[in-house]
Amino acid sequence: MDIKTFLANCTLALAESGASSPRLDCELFLTRLLAIDRVHFFSHPEHEITDEQAAAFERLVVRRKGGEPVSYIIGEKEFWSLRFAVTPAVLIPRPETECLLEEALRLYPPPGEGLSICDIGTGSGIIAVVLAKELPLARIVATDISALALSVARKNAALHGVSGRVEFRQSDVFGDIAGDFDLICSNPPYITDAGYERLPDGIRKFEPRGALAAGADGLDIYRRIIGEAENHLKKGGRLFFEIGEEQRNPVTALLLEAGVYTDIRCRSDYGGMDRVLSARKV
Ligand SMILES: C[S@@+](CC[C@H](N)C(=O)[O-])C[C@H]1O[C@@H](n2cnc3c(N)ncnc32)[C@H](O)[C@@H]1O
Repeated sequence: MDIKTFLANCTLALAESGASSPRLDCELFLTRLLAIDRVHFFSHPEHEITDEQAAAFERLVVRRKGGEPVSYIIGEKEFWSLRFAVTPAVLIPRPETECLLEEALRLYPPPGEGLSICDIGTGSGIIAVVLAKELPLARIVATDISALALSVARKNAALHGVSGRVEFRQSDVFGDIAGDFDLICSNPPYITDAGYERLPDGIRKFEPRGALAAGADGLDIYRRIIGEAENHLKKGGRLFFEIGEEQRNPVTALLLEAGVYTDIRCRSDYGGMDRVLSARKV
């Protein structure tokens, strides 16, 4: 069968299962499976697919019909215009997290000479890897409590040629981290336990709970980072957090209560939601 007809049939089958973007999903699967780009795909609709390729493709569609996110099925996600490997051990990178990087790079522009940076809860490594690429003279430590997540992050650092400048450490917040930093960045888990139960199935069933939920008020990890960061930030150093909906005030209150942070700034994402909170250590 030619790819045009095959794609139309599969899109229909996926649409019937209730997938929200069946055509796009099928295009992604097919371009990955056949190792062709979209231009080739559209300019050669007559391209015949083999029975073997059709069977492999159908296995991907069955996984998608079961609600598995496309990024886990194809094993990657684009972020900051770069491709990152993802597995079910890590949160799938969200576009909002680019705002944290934009804000950090606005205040600490390249090349980052002499800067030391710590990324807490690195997951797939997106924050650490992008900072390593954008700030070629900075030194970066990336941590996660999950050894499996760290192995994905290491792979991504290698993929983007920054392994030599990012040190990966398994650590519960700052438990196994020595030294102090100019910047501490984190997109920690920040969903309340009750909010977690209301997340769509596609997230709850497939993404790691430990990357999402953070206690009754969703502030458990912020509380710990804010408390411990004061011993790991240099004087004048800055803390950057991604925050969730309605967390600007409670996280600001935690920063103020700590008594060592000033110049607290909030930045919205492109949907107008408060998304990044940063503060300077006095
Ligand atoms: C929301 S995900 C963020 C992942 C990645 N930084 C991103 O922005 O896509 C939070 C990450 O924090 C990690 N984490 C959760 N609790 C932690 C803890 N106590 N100490 C260190 N990392 C933790 C999770 O394993 C997960 O990888």
